[in-house]
Amino acid sequence: MKPPYLDPNQPVNRRVEDLLSRMTIEEKIGQMCQYSGVTSKIEQMIREGKVGALLNVYGAAEVNRVQRIAVEESRLGIPLLFGLDVLHGYKTIFPIPLGLASTWDPEVVKRAASISAAEASSDGIKWTFAPMVDIARDPRWGRIAEGAGEDPYLGSVMARALVEGFQGPDLSNLSSLLACPKHYVAYGGAEGGRDYNTVDISERTLREIYLPPFKAAVKAGAGTIMSAFNDLNGIPASANPYTLKIILREEWGFKGFVVSDWNAIGELINHGIAGDIYEAAEKALKAGVDMDMQGDVYQRALLHLVKEGRVSEDLIDESVRRILEIKFKLGLFERPYADPERASQVIKREEHIRAALEVARKSIVLLKNEGNLLPLSKDLKTVAVVGPLSDDKEAPLGPWSCLGNPNDVVTVLEGVKRKISDKTRVLYAEGCDVVGGSREDFEEAVRLAEESDVAIVVVGESREMSGEAASRAYLDLPGLQEDLLKAVHATGTPIVMVLMNGRPLSISWAAEHIPSIIEAWFPGIQAGNAIADVIFGDYNPGGKIPVTFPRTVGQVPIYYNHKSTGRPPSPENKWTSKYIDVSYTPLFPFGHGLSYTRFEYSGLYISPQEVVKDQDIRITFRLKNVGDREGDEVAQLYVRDVVASVTRPVKELKGFRRVTLKPGEEKSVEFKLTLEDISFLNHELKRIVEPGEFKIMIGSSSEDIRLTGSFMVREYVEFPWK
Ligand code: BGC
Repeated sequence: MKPPYLDPNQPVNRRVEDLLSRMTIEEKIGQMCQYSGVTSKIEQMIREGKVGALLNVYGAAEVNRVQRIAVEESRLGIPLLFGLDVLHGYKTIFPIPLGLASTWDPEVVKRAASISAAEASSDGIKWTFAPMVDIARDPRWGRIAEGAGEDPYLGSVMARALVEGFQGPDLSNLSSLLACPKHYVAYGGAEGGRDYNTVDISERTLREIYLPPFKAAVKAGAGTIMSAFNDLNGIPASANPYTLKIILREEWGFKGFVVSDWNAIGELINHGIAGDIYEAAEKALKAGVDMDMQGDVYQRALLHLVKEGRVSEDLIDESVRRILEIKFKLGLFERPYADPERASQVIKREEHIRAALEVARKSIVLLKNEGNLLPLSKDLKTVAVVGPLSDDKEAPLGPWSCLGNPNDVVTVLEGVKRKISDKTRVLYAEGCDVVGGSREDFEEAVRLAEESDVAIVVVGESREMSGEAASRAYLDLPGLQEDLLKAVHATGTPIVMVLMNGRPLSISWAAEHIPSIIEAWFPGIQAGNAIADVIFGDYNPGGKIPVTFPRTVGQVPIYYNHKSTGRPPSPENKWTSKYIDVSYTPLFPFGHGLSYTRFEYSGLYISPQEVVKDQDIRITFRLKNVGDREGDEVAQLYVRDVVASVTRPVKELKGFRRVTLKPGEEKSVEFKLTLEDISFLNHELKRIVEPGEFKIMIGSSSEDIRLTGSFMVREYVEFPWK
């Protein structure tokens, strides 16, 4: 007779307990160990039941080969969990997460995640190390590319969309991918924007800025969480019982398992809170880290710690339970193998490529369009396409592009050629490299621009310049690209500048001199088609930047939801909070993005005006397309608590909606705010709402506020949670 753990008709907890009761301590510890790649040594360990999960092993055939060792050759046949960094696509590559956030459209983001999940899972990957939900207020930090930018509300909406998209309605579905929000927590707060660096922030900032997207991800049902590399206020995040136990498990009720980031347990020694691997393992486990990614620390240390009585077997059991529970829920015991046939049908199918185009178009932000230079006519006589990224097949994939293949990428040059009439001549010159110092090709680029009606100049960063371990101390266009831009500009030919990059860049010169600027981020495999659609008006851009663009790196950190200070900056008064050598304002504010049409906001109605206990606040207004093209507007709702017992940000995003309107069309937009939405943490960190005035600001960006109003809260409210 089959043991209960192999019987799918038994409830999951029964199966877990049955299996646990059959496991040796070595096998239990094995479930808590994850390794990258597979060698003959790892294969032997799998046979011995000493590996619970792998990463960076992919492809249905290879996954099945390795899985067979676990299922058929190990004593208990516990299937392995295969993980991979599927952030913005598996093989069909979508825009980088910062670009996904620029859509301000959770539905399309969810769709991108569910397509990624379908592709990865068909190929044997059942776990993604995503979404990255770290808030980043510092564009020097290269990993800003992997997240949703600076705002906790937008970050939370995106976190939910991605978790729901990856996991689907039920983990046991064939095409669901277990999510792993990361890097818990405050990893994006690294001092100086330097990756892996120390984070020292107040508990208020932790709770109000960095935690909300994780909470949203947990609420959305994320099955795992990754503990981060960084030191957090003196206790590294991968050994931090306050964040891992009290907040994550006790306050939020998280039931899944925690995996460390890559060797983050071993690195506790470098942090200086552990003298050896034993102390490191003990601290991480007791803090609540269930699985050791690639560090081999749990493997080498836990058995010894149990024997010495420093760690109880019960504690080990707790972690193993959580891991096994997820494996059962994923249906791995019933379906350990991938179906290569299915993989070949699912991966990169036509509708996935179409979705990649749709998402890429929606992610594009029109930063500037002086004199309505854009959209260009398709019947121009000559167009020059210039710049090191114009025909680059690698860059559009961006960092963490999983198994994206450069050959699938449509470059801007290709996109432009496909788009325009065959009477138009398209001239192309690279001009210079992304980094590096040769001006040799400037002359050619200038000559072509002189011959052309318009020059499309594609500049930015290479894909290695953002992502992990890619912090920058300068935020300018790298290399000689700005000089190239200046040289082309000097010809007098109008320029459309297309940016591809993984972070906000300080492009002050360009913002002043170049009439049209498109922020494309790294748009994925359909880059060139999406960008050409925007340039030639087949798609009207509607994306908005999810992060503030500084004028210079010296303004960093700069973000829209800052506090007022006692001396808010004022141009007329020297003795206010600003700089003597650069403006205090951003180059482009959070939420900014233009369209080829214009929108009018009117009729703000707030109800009730006087809020008593438990009432929701309804905010409605009308949005009208008053231009002559169909277009999308992202209407944004900001709130300010005018007077409170602790200082509050000058505004906070509390709602947004991307609305499509035909020319002349008008729609009513409604937001609902609960009292919790406008609550904050008082001096004792209790979540409360205080009586008083709340200002409502509705706008097209955090600076372009079109409607204002207010309501009054009459009673004090306290919530039982933080
Ligand atoms: C990164 C994680 C990633 C892991 C596995 C680490 O270096 O910080 O984000 O999931 O590697 O690839």
